[in-house]
Amino acid sequence: MKFGYFDDANREYVITRPDTPLPWINYLGCQAYFGIISNTAGGYSFYRDARLRRVSRYRYNNVPYDLGGRYIYLRDDVTGEFWSPSWQPTRNDLEGYTCRHGLGYTIIGSRYSGIEAHSTYFVPLDEDLEIWRLTVTNRRSQPAYLSVYSSIEFCLWDANDDATNFQRNFSIGEVEVEDGAIYHKTEYRERRNHFAYFACSRKTEGFDTQREAFVGPYRGWEKPLAVERGKLSNSVAHGWAPIGAHHVKLELGPEETQEVIFLLGYHENPQAQKFDPPASQTVNKKTVKPVIAKYLNFAEVDAAFENLRQYWDGLLAVCQVETPDVHTNRMVNIWNAYQCMATFNMSRSASFYESGIGRGLGFRDSNQDLLGFVQMVPARARERILDLAATQLPSGGAYHQYQPLTKRGNNDVGSNFNDDPHWLIVGVAAYLKETGDWSILDEPVPYDNAPGSEQPLYEHLQRSFQYTLDRLGPHGLPLIGRADWNDCLNLNCFSDTPGQSFQTTTNKEGKVAESVFIAALFVLAGRELAEIARRRGRTDEVQRYLAAVARMEDTVREQGWDGEWFLRAYDDFGRKVGSKECAEGKIFIETQGFCVLAGIGLDDGRAQAAMESVAKHLATEHGIILQQPAYSKYYLELGEISSYPPGYKENAGIFCHNNPWVMIAETQVGNGDRAHDYYARINPSAREAISELHRCEPYVYAQMIAGRDAPTHGEAKNSWLTGTAAWNYYAVTQWILGIRPTFEGLEIRPVVPKSWRGFKATRLFRGVTYNIAVTREGEGNQVALEVDGEPWEGTVVPAPVKGQREVTVEVTLK
Ligand code: BGC
Ligand code: NOJ
Repeated sequence: MKFGYFDDANREYVITRPDTPLPWINYLGCQAYFGIISNTAGGYSFYRDARLRRVSRYRYNNVPYDLGGRYIYLRDDVTGEFWSPSWQPTRNDLEGYTCRHGLGYTIIGSRYSGIEAHSTYFVPLDEDLEIWRLTVTNRRSQPAYLSVYSSIEFCLWDANDDATNFQRNFSIGEVEVEDGAIYHKTEYRERRNHFAYFACSRKTEGFDTQREAFVGPYRGWEKPLAVERGKLSNSVAHGWAPIGAHHVKLELGPEETQEVIFLLGYHENPQAQKFDPPASQTVNKKTVKPVIAKYLNFAEVDAAFENLRQYWDGLLAVCQVETPDVHTNRMVNIWNAYQCMATFNMSRSASFYESGIGRGLGFRDSNQDLLGFVQMVPARARERILDLAATQLPSGGAYHQYQPLTKRGNNDVGSNFNDDPHWLIVGVAAYLKETGDWSILDEPVPYDNAPGSEQPLYEHLQRSFQYTLDRLGPHGLPLIGRADWNDCLNLNCFSDTPGQSFQTTTNKEGKVAESVFIAALFVLAGRELAEIARRRGRTDEVQRYLAAVARMEDTVREQGWDGEWFLRAYDDFGRKVGSKECAEGKIFIETQGFCVLAGIGLDDGRAQAAMESVAKHLATEHGIILQQPAYSKYYLELGEISSYPPGYKENAGIFCHNNPWVMIAETQVGNGDRAHDYYARINPSAREAISELHRCEPYVYAQMIAGRDAPTHGEAKNSWLTGTAAWNYYAVTQWILGIRPTFEGLEIRPVVPKSWRGFKATRLFRGVTYNIAVTREGEGNQVALEVDGEPWEGTVVPAPVKGQREVTVEVTLK
């Protein structure tokens, strides 16, 4: 069952009933000011950092779900009836409800009692504000006398503090109101130089800034007292819960349309100009008033909206494909690329499943995310790499997370996730392949952000590699530390205290537990590093890296192979994890995908055997499960993985992030049918028809789909912020469609289903547009290229000489 449809021409998903199985959200903003908006206008906004500069308030885990947001109420002043065109919070029986989630904007509207209304929400490029543009049309044959009420609840900045330290916060809330604009200035009197504002394009009849005055005691947003009464009380918040609410009157003749703009924004004043007059405690508004005036103007709003559309069109133009599969096209051309930009902006910090409080930017996550966005925003990828590298520790290890506002490593979580450092090599290699910008390797970057410790980025990569060589275990495999990619395989944790965090609790200084996954990652990263070293003329280093890689490959073959598949790890007792010898957790997906992806076993049959084992033991119609059999009880020596009920998350859920590793591995062994089949099983668009089961948004990937051991097999959870976005994008564009940036140029080597007669693609690469047409002549994966009409040796086409902006590549598959 569907709850809407894809409007591919407009690059929108159109939701046609408000009661989606879960709130289906979108992101507003793509630079510094961000918002999350649900299909019923729920959600919140923040400036740069979801924790430290939260603009509007949100209460998580609310029951009923998704209350609090950017709510607009309409009231018929003749009958006193009121409703919200976005359905929430009043939940009236609306006609023609639609929510159009587009790229960086959301339009929600409906018709009720002969009044059509919709609001367009978006953040203009280069501005720290959001626009709510309300359009109201009277479809009655009589004039309509309406009131419009806007509402937003301010967060007192630090979202964590706001939710926990309310004994203080109940006393600190402060606002000012001037010319109908509401200024939220909590803590401005002391150490903040920023404030929020909420302005309106019309003359207002009144305002409220105290939540209780607006909603009424013991009421919620669904039935605000002030709206019911038809009159705001011009309340000024002193402590408690500051809000912003405006009241505007509209008189509409039959078929008449009128519009109102509401602006919610964030503004910083220079420290020396905080107050006006300077000796007062009044916010200096001179600096912000021009911005407010600009965006209360409809022509400016039109222009800003158009700019935003062009911006996204430009980003997406980098890679567009036309294949025989509509779901592939839609995801590659629109939604998967768009989701990759969301993971670039948010990492795992703020979604409807991540509070924005706990986690900042993850080291491994952000490096992997690069694989999905580097082609769209290379300059910002460069900056991200340098920020990440600056949180690397002198040991070569890395802070697992850092706060985006301060760019400092997060001490609560600390370090010692032994896979982390290698992802920096993977990320940097992806950047180099895409851009050819070798200068990044010479950038001086500090360790742990300590001034004076700067070394060229290249040295950081060397330390990343060395980190593992300094930490090998009894079998010659890398020690796992706190965890590897699988955060829940906690082999040194031994936690027996209820409620203790597996992520932050003190671990054993483990010298035994080893990870086959890190071994595979080491092989992949080591090859990349060797190639980078070769291109920098460091011949002796190349030999050293390749020798270490070869040794590790041998070790994996000898110590990391279980007969029919790759082992997963050795635990603290030196016992196998992910082996047929185990009672549960006999086979894991990560090492099957990643060893083969890293090239291990391609020449000795192990790769093929591992892929057959995945197909036999792990593949389900809803995707490939993380491991089997699921752990049925808690294992002290395995940690969080066994804390989840069978079928969920890392305990045998379909953890979508690692499915693309198997897709890529299948292309490596030449099986395009299977690679694409696995791709289709978790493709959100392909799952749209089962939305009542899938439950999450059909336009973005979710972190997890419940595995076959779960009673809810097929149900997705934790949508949006997941490495699944980048890896699927990477797998389908670079390995299945085979359009792959390499150090030398753009390689074109598809491994697609046998039934595909061909496909087309355009790819912007290092300033050149490649127009690619693939035609299948035989059933295999042999590739013959013609470039601009001439036969071409090999499969890599370097970015042509200066001046040539377009190149045509004809590809024949035999
Ligand atoms: C989740 C993991 C996540 C980890 C770190 C665990 O509870 O299952 O997927 O990586 O938390 O926040
Ligand atoms: C989500 C985390 O963000 C990521 O870092 C980790 O690799 C996966 N969970 C698997 O545990």
